[in-house]
Amino acid sequence: MIASQTSVVTQALEAAVRAPSPFNTQPWWFSVDGNRIELRLDWRRVLEVADPDAREARLACGAALCNLRIQLRGLDRIGLVDLMPDRDDPDLLAVVRVVGERPATDSEHKLADAIGRRHTNRHPFLDRPVGAGARATLASAARAEGARLVFVDASERYDQLVGIIRMAEQRLDCDEAYRQETRYWLDGPLDRRDGVPIDAVGPESVGDPLVRLRTFYLPNPLPARRFEQQPLLVAVVTTGKGPRYDVIAGAGMQRALLAACSLGLSASFPSQPFEVPDLREDVTKVFASDGQAHTLLRIGYGYPVGVTPRRSVDEVTGTP
Ligand SMILES: Cc1cc2nc3c(=O)[nH]c(=O)nc-3n(C[C@H](O)[C@H](O)[C@H](O)COP(=O)(O)O)c2cc1C
Repeated sequence: MIASQTSVVTQALEAAVRAPSPFNTQPWWFSVDGNRIELRLDWRRVLEVADPDAREARLACGAALCNLRIQLRGLDRIGLVDLMPDRDDPDLLAVVRVVGERPATDSEHKLADAIGRRHTNRHPFLDRPVGAGARATLASAARAEGARLVFVDASERYDQLVGIIRMAEQRLDCDEAYRQETRYWLDGPLDRRDGVPIDAVGPESVGDPLVRLRTFYLPNPLPARRFEQQPLLVAVVTTGKGPRYDVIAGAGMQRALLAACSLGLSASFPSQPFEVPDLREDVTKVFASDGQAHTLLRIGYGYPVGVTPRRSVDEVTGTP
């Protein structure tokens, strides 16, 4: 049976809101007019301290855009995207028009199926390497969105990154405004539909892990665990920088995360350095020969954990 246009758009929006966002802020807003969907940055949900320029928020919106388009394909529809179409309205990040039908391929169905299963995994991973075949799949997923992945294994560059992540964690830890902002987006009542719920936070590490994941200022009910020795680090890079490239990077990141999920891989984000301006510069320099670095991922084989809540489509559509 062919789904009605309204049901197609609703299902595409349900997929869009499953995108990852910093602290699950969900900084997006959608306006729907028939077959036309506008995606806007919602400044009310941008992290004032950690992300004052909304760079990470635009990555999240890029991820939402990617989900939306992939879900349309999963429903055998074609979504044409106009990226940042209005110079005078830079918060209008994309306009998607549902323009026709074409049967989805197996790989499109696989990606669409992964949207509801993908989640951030802050638990330890296995000490099992991510092989060349899996890396090629992730890389081509990012490329399909106009972004690139740089895989960083044991090397001088790896150690530089580990040092920058540590430094960022220390600097953020001393920043009371940052700590306050973090606390606002953590936990809360059971019916809260945004923020990071306590059960999405991983265990403390036994000993000092090589790659420091973000500290969440909550009493951690889980017993401490040993983390993997040396997770694969992956940078998402683009050829240019600025808001448009933030959105492209977010879409590339998300397509790679969906491909990872469908391969049984887990991921989390050691993105603390991007929230400290001089350390963001340091990461930028580390990848200067590859392009503009937008975010870092830790990718490996982990035990699955649950997905986190989202605001409903009704709460993110209409007039802002
Ligand atoms: C740009 C960006 C940066 C993020 N940085 C971090 C981070 O540094 N540490 C972390 O634990 N999670 C980070 N996350 C993951 C979000 O907290 C997560 O996406 C959100 O809580 C929703 O959960 P889900 O990914 O499981 O759906 C980041 C996500 C995005 C999109």
